[in-house]
Amino acid sequence: MSRTWLLHALLVILLAIAALVLVRLHSAAAETPSGIDAASIYESRCAGCHGPAAAFAGSCLKLKEDLLAGRYSGRDAEALLREGHGRLNPDEVAAVCTFLRAQIEAR
Ligand code: HEC
Repeated sequence: MSRTWLLHALLVILLAIAALVLVRLHSAAAETPSGIDAASIYESRCAGCHGPAAAFAGSCLKLKEDLLAGRYSGRDAEALLREGHGRLNPDEVAAVCTFLRAQIEAR
């Protein structure tokens, strides 16, 4: 019995390590290189008016020749945000635009 028990214990430990590594990788991917957490910025500063990010990006935005733009207005979203819409600083604008792009590309 001791052999199988040991193998099972080892397996459980390995799975736990794998799970921890996956969780870390996932949270690293959610952050931009600048360390800004765009998802929570969107959640706290944009979602109140625009709703969940995936729905907003999916129904109101598009990629127009690599430009993140209003789906129907054609307006340059990054320029709009830089002009002060949503009151983000330039780093946050870049991070939130990258985040919204990813939402469109994930569709
Ligand atoms: C107080 C409410 C409010 C907040 C907060 C807000 N917005 Fe807006 N946003 C609007 C309104 C209203 C419009 C104009 C809708 C339109 O053009 O049809 C708009 C337009 C936009 C557009 C252009 C859409 C288009 O079709 O041209 C983008 C992109 C956008 N918002 C992104 C954001 C982001 C990102 C944030 C968070 C940093 C944010 N907004 C915060 C209300 C808000």
